[in-house]
Amino acid sequence: MVNKIERIARRPIYPTPAGLVVSIDAQSKPNIISLGEIFNLSIREPVWVGIAVRETRYSWELIKKQGEFTVNLPPASLLKQVKGCGSCSGRDGIDKFAKFGLTPQPSRYVKPPIIAECPVNLECKVVGFHHVGDHDLFIGEVLLEHVDEDKVDANGERDESKLDPLIWLGRGYYTIGKKLGEMQW
Ligand SMILES: Cc1cc2nc3c(=O)[nH]c(=O)nc-3n(C[C@H](O)[C@H](O)[C@H](O)COP(=O)(O)O)c2cc1C
Repeated sequence: MVNKIERIARRPIYPTPAGLVVSIDAQSKPNIISLGEIFNLSIREPVWVGIAVRETRYSWELIKKQGEFTVNLPPASLLKQVKGCGSCSGRDGIDKFAKFGLTPQPSRYVKPPIIAECPVNLECKVVGFHHVGDHDLFIGEVLLEHVDEDKVDANGERDESKLDPLIWLGRGYYTIGKKLGEMQW
C-alpha cells in the first residue's frame, strides 16, 4: 500500500464543470463569469442548482440585484473562452460576449441570455442565498433547460456522451473519458 501524506485541504477534489454563468445589469447588458463551483442541489422536483461566487466578483453584484442567471455548459473546444471570461471583469466595461466571440441568445423566462455556443443551458431564478465561507452560495431554481437538437437521442433525451464537457479538477482542465455504464433508476 502507498503511504498517504496528510495535508491542509484546499479546494476538495470533486470534479465540476468549468461553467459559464450569465447575469445582466440594470440596463440589461449581459456579463459572463467562469465558475468551477457549480453544483446539483435538488434534481427533480424542484430542480435547483447552486453556484458559489465570491463577493468581489462583478457577477455577484448583478445576480444579487437582478435575482436571475443562466448556467451554460461549455464543450472542451471553448477552453480559451472559459479562461478568458475568468480572467477579466465586466466591472471594467468589458463586453465578454464580443471579446471572446460568444453569441447571446434570448432566454424564455429570465432576462439574462443563454450562450448559443454551449450545448446545454439552464435558465435560473434565485430562490436562496447563503454565506458559505469564502464564497456566497446562490441557489437557482431551474425554470427551463435548453439542449442543442443534435445532442439529444431518438427519444428526445439529453445524450451526455455527445456533450464533451469541460471539466475543472484541482487547478486543471480536463475532458471526460469513455462511458463505463449506466445507472439503473
Ligand atoms: C475555471 C475557472 C473557475 C472559476 N471558478 C470560480 C468560482 O467558482 N467562483 C468565483 O467566484 N470565481 C471563480 N473564478 C474566477 C472568476 O471567473 C473571475 O474572477 C472573473 O474574472 C470574474 O468576472 P466578473 O468580475 O465579470 O464577474 C473562476 C475562474 C476560472 C478561470
